[in-house]
Amino acid sequence: MSSSEPAAPEHNRKLYIETVGCQMNVLDSELVVAALRKQQFELTDDMYEADTVLFNTCSVRDHAEHKIYSQLGRLKFAKRHHPAKVIGVMGCMAQKDQELIFQRAPHVDLVVGTGQLAEIPRLLEVARTTRDRQIAISLDRREGSRSEVAMSFESYDPLRDPEMRPTPFQAYVRIMIGCDKFCTYCVVPMTRGPEQSRLPSHILAEVHTLVGQGVKEVTLLGQTVNSYRVTENGRMYRLSDLLEMINAVPGIERIKFVTNFPKDMTDDLLQAVRDLPKVARYLHVPLQSGCDEVLKRMKRGYTVADYRDMMQRIRATVPKCAVSSDFIVGFCGETEESFQKSMDLIRECRFKNSFIFKYSPRPGTKADDLWTDDIPEDVKRHRNHEMLELTNEIAEEDNAEFIGTDVEVLVEGPSKSSEKGKIETDTPQKVQLMGRSMCDRIVVFDGNPRLAGSTVTVDVHDCTSTTLMGSIVTRQVVHGLSIELPIVS
Ligand code: 5AD
Ligand code: SF4
Repeated sequence: MSSSEPAAPEHNRKLYIETVGCQMNVLDSELVVAALRKQQFELTDDMYEADTVLFNTCSVRDHAEHKIYSQLGRLKFAKRHHPAKVIGVMGCMAQKDQELIFQRAPHVDLVVGTGQLAEIPRLLEVARTTRDRQIAISLDRREGSRSEVAMSFESYDPLRDPEMRPTPFQAYVRIMIGCDKFCTYCVVPMTRGPEQSRLPSHILAEVHTLVGQGVKEVTLLGQTVNSYRVTENGRMYRLSDLLEMINAVPGIERIKFVTNFPKDMTDDLLQAVRDLPKVARYLHVPLQSGCDEVLKRMKRGYTVADYRDMMQRIRATVPKCAVSSDFIVGFCGETEESFQKSMDLIRECRFKNSFIFKYSPRPGTKADDLWTDDIPEDVKRHRNHEMLELTNEIAEEDNAEFIGTDVEVLVEGPSKSSEKGKIETDTPQKVQLMGRSMCDRIVVFDGNPRLAGSTVTVDVHDCTSTTLMGSIVTRQVVHGLSIELPIVS
């Protein structure tokens, strides 16, 4: 054991961890749990019973922060009665609020930013044994040169923990950290630091480890994943190169990547999506607004015409590629006319789905410094609702195109309805299963739960705006004739 590693405690300790926010946070929690299991921690889902409570936090919208402060509030009494309980706040809110967290919630023992997660096992032990507050955060973006700040944000990708993943055969892989785009509404460049790409050799080694753990689908993560660019051994690698390398890894069946930045959607990447059989025909490319003035104030770095051009290149290069988007409604100065321009673009682009957010002013961002949050809450709510209705209407129309066709589905497991016991099937050994198609559409069908992790062909016979419904078929070639048989489960 190295001298920096904390001594193992005398008994197993119970860890409760709660994660809010994006996929990056889900991955961070998996890695922290993997490290803590090595220190004799075991998981519990009861925050009151736990010896150690960790909140992995998000700062993108006020609502996410609020949720964490309320949870912390609930623990005040528990901490008074069990002073040995260690409470920690990690992730974006920790990096953003720093000491303020101790002021707002004095019973918190530990604050650890996104760039310091490797410190958690050690600091938890120090907090437990000394009862002193511990804090580990990276430099503020204005506190040093770019490389100094970058060095203070460490990419944290050591151990993996299969049990923390939604299914045993799907895993996230971080390919870069941070963001340098500085959209005026967004805290991420502050909370996750400068953009830094991981070396392809490290990423590939991780993919091989994951395959060894039974993983078949990897989702590559980056705030602007298609900006990936790094030099290793004198050769420059882009995302398209990385996709080609991972596509060649035996055992990997599907590769996805999120989130893309419109301006960095280069032709080599689109050609890789077209040519590499394991890469999903699915691109998440947030537009945020369909109005040039709003885009300019958001400092997104592209116009509606640029986005349109990108959509045309996607459609021309990767036919039938599903595209999804994010939108912010009620951004400072968004008029009804600007909002309707976003609606027009949704009609034109026909996104598979869109995540719609009401603008939430974030302290420390340019938008919050420069403009007032002038769109009333009820207008934001109304626009959110109107946009959601339109996106659902379009999704349902496009999903209907799949009726009567076959889709290849990677089975994830029982559907939510079947888990809640709401769905009954005709045979007891079958349940309603769910999985996703190559273009990331959710598909439900009846089958044996043992099919989880395998790829099946589903004949689609119905749909909603979010889901394709069908039944499993297998193809058998008999004397040169391809016939479809219902699967025997
Ligand atoms: N308010 C509302 N939504 C935001 N997003 C980022 N910052 C804000 C904010 N201040 C949204 C963007 C981004 C998604 C992850 O969150 O749409 O793409
Ligand atoms: Fe935030 Fe813009 Fe970076 Fe996305 S690209 S993380 S919205 S600053």
